[in-house]
Amino acid sequence: MIIAPSLLAADFTRLGKEAGRAARAGADWLHLDIMDGHFVPNISFGPEVVAAVRPLAKKLFFDVHLMCSKPEILLELFVKAGADQITVHVELGERVAPLLWKIRALGKKVGLAINPPTSIAEVQPFLGKIDLLLVMTVNPGFGGQSFIHECLPKIQQADAWRRAKKLNYRLEVDGGINNATVAECARAGADTFVAGTALFRQRNMGAAIKKMRKIAHANAPRSPI
Ligand code: DX5
Ligand code: ZN
Repeated sequence: MIIAPSLLAADFTRLGKEAGRAARAGADWLHLDIMDGHFVPNISFGPEVVAAVRPLAKKLFFDVHLMCSKPEILLELFVKAGADQITVHVELGERVAPLLWKIRALGKKVGLAINPPTSIAEVQPFLGKIDLLLVMTVNPGFGGQSFIHECLPKIQQADAWRRAKKLNYRLEVDGGINNATVAECARAGADTFVAGTALFRQRNMGAAIKKMRKIAHANAPRSPI
């Protein structure tokens, strides 16, 4: 079970300190939401910001989620900035296969994300090529939104395919994750949990992460990974 606080919900006046706070609080990964004002109706931060916070959270795995229309022009920049994994969206259509290949060629873990309105069938051709499938549980663009329950069957399907095909991609959920929805997602088969508001807005992030991880474990359908 992996808990990945999303830096999008951190105090933007002190991002380096906030990344360090997540590391000290026992986070497994740091989730970095990159928004380009085109793929989603918001802008967050870019590779320079990621590079600036990287030395303050040396041990954290940097999970970069590109909500961007043209990831092809950004991959190298985020690799240089310190990304360990880069996730692109299946909604990019015919550009997905070359993008996944390029992330792999750059020596980084490969993630594929899917938005709430998109059919889970769209990711099926890529399942053998990815390290992580990110099932969005809100429409991307903003933190602090409510979890969309209609996404749960997609998590179940992705988990069923993983078992049937004997694949070992991680199954990540992102958006509206709190102590109630983390249980529902874990029951559906998710093993990697992004949470912005529910973790960064806590004074004691360490206790919040521990609790979230415990709930995820308690609700896992099988022995967790
Ligand atoms: C939404 C982002 C999410 C967001 C999650 O576009 O991809 O990662 O930061 O934030 P919360 O946990 O606040 O819903
Ligand atoms: Zn995200």
